[in-house]
Amino acid sequence: MIDPSVKIPVENKNLFCRDLPSQPQPGLGKVLVTGASGYIGGRLVPELLARGYQVRVMVRRASPIDQELWPGAEIVVADALKIDQLQKALAGINTAYYLIHSLYLGPKEFEAADIKAAVNFRKAAARQRIKRIIYLGGLGDIRNPLSSHLRNRIEVAARLKRGPVPVTILRAAVIMGSGSASYEIIQHLVRKAPFLLIPHWAKSKCQPIAIRDIIKYLVGVLEIPQTAGQNFDVGGQDILTYEQMLKIWARVLRKKRIFISFTFGCIPFYAYLTSLLTPVPHFITQCLMEGLKNEVVCQDNRIKKILPFEPLSYKKSIVLALSREEQDQVSTRWSDAYPPAHELALKLHELKNGPDYTARDSLVTDKKASALFRSICQIGGREGWFHSNWMWWLRGGIDRILLGVGSSRGRKSHSRLKINDVIDFWRIEDLQPNKRLLLRAEMKLPGRAWLEFTIKEKTQQRELAITAYYQTAGIFGRLYWYLFIPFHTFIFKNLIVQIEKRS
Ligand SMILES: NC(=O)c1ccc[n+]([C@@H]2O[C@H](COP(=O)([O-])OP(=O)(O)OC[C@H]3O[C@@H](n4cnc5c(N)ncnc54)[C@H](OP(=O)(O)O)[C@@H]3O)[C@@H](O)[C@H]2O)c1
Repeated sequence: MIDPSVKIPVENKNLFCRDLPSQPQPGLGKVLVTGASGYIGGRLVPELLARGYQVRVMVRRASPIDQELWPGAEIVVADALKIDQLQKALAGINTAYYLIHSLYLGPKEFEAADIKAAVNFRKAAARQRIKRIIYLGGLGDIRNPLSSHLRNRIEVAARLKRGPVPVTILRAAVIMGSGSASYEIIQHLVRKAPFLLIPHWAKSKCQPIAIRDIIKYLVGVLEIPQTAGQNFDVGGQDILTYEQMLKIWARVLRKKRIFISFTFGCIPFYAYLTSLLTPVPHFITQCLMEGLKNEVVCQDNRIKKILPFEPLSYKKSIVLALSREEQDQVSTRWSDAYPPAHELALKLHELKNGPDYTARDSLVTDKKASALFRSICQIGGREGWFHSNWMWWLRGGIDRILLGVGSSRGRKSHSRLKINDVIDFWRIEDLQPNKRLLLRAEMKLPGRAWLEFTIKEKTQQRELAITAYYQTAGIFGRLYWYLFIPFHTFIFKNLIVQIEKRS
């Protein structure tokens, strides 16, 4: 029954669930979305809000832009590794989406963290007597030896199910959509490599699904109560080998590529190579590529009778994703989740004794603050760093070789920036229009670093300044700072000159 007192907002043509065969149930009670800062959760929240649900969004760190991102949603701060925080997040909730994943912790640590989070969640959900959990995990046949990533996704489902709260489990393979890690990996490989090596495991079968279809299934099962406590496999129209997926991409991008079958199948080697050619860092490529040796195809298609809509073909899903990218309309990206709650996310103003080292450069100009700020906001991504780009590129390359995030992550949007967005190897910590842009370094460093751009009003003029902050605990950190001072002085000075010129 639709609660007549709840207003269902007007249709937005960017929403995926407009043609969903199920009916919105806004009277259901509060719906919690965990993992909302992640790729899937970030796309689910606007759909639920648009269908009139009362949504509580769980994040690990509140950000000034949360309300702007999810207008009308209640924001709760909780870490799934801390059960008392989960209890608060789950109080008064009817249904909770479980979209927590810790892949960014890397191959050695993510498994234990994900299991602990799932066990905590199950316990807290039982104590708060919530009605349902909906979890999106991974496909894979447990009778075969699975990669650690796929095994972990299945284990999380099993742990959630051990409690009294009914869990709906959706199991999906690769998700294709603008901003998804798999989408960016394949696209960059096809764009950049003139020939592609095809090891035996690239011939395993996979049933990719479009992001819009995943969101439709996630919302659809919420609206169909008989799906509570059940498992469903969800997939797109096509069952393809990874080799076929690469070939379809090459046709869509009109790239002539040579595919070479290769007997050497060492996954860490391919994962490393892939991380050098794509924006996705090594710890993610490694986890994802290990799963390529497993077949990930839907074993049952019951969901199609319950939610009768035709999922997209692989080709259609990539064409749609590419057009979103071309229109600069990518709303969430794999890089969003990494690593805001990580220890690296310590904010500049949270440093107990302030940064150990500071280097500053400035100039005074007649240009308007708005023009200067617009120009600052163009940095990174495909625009580069306005001067001595090769030095930035070299620093990013070294970082990638050291298994860091590198600078090829680029930007999610070429025209807009918001707090927590990635710019190459930085992440935006603070953004105050026409006043300040503060970037936190995420590259490998013997310390922590920030880069700040500020604009200050002076009588009739503006002061544009760039300040590097650095905090280090050890001798290597200090050496690093002194060694790089000449480069930094040169780069930063030229950078603000260019910002001023372009504004
Ligand atoms: N993306 C795909 O291609 C794909 C394919 C198949 C299945 N799935 C499944 O879909 C689900 C969501 O995936 P995703 O791609 O959206 O992941 P994601 O982008 O990596 O997001 C993971 C989310 O989990 C949150 N998180 C991690 N540890 C947490 C903790 N201790 N407490 C609270 N929150 C925590 C992160 O928050 P922070 O921002 O604070 O780190 C982030 O919001 C996963 O179960 C995944 O297996 C995804």
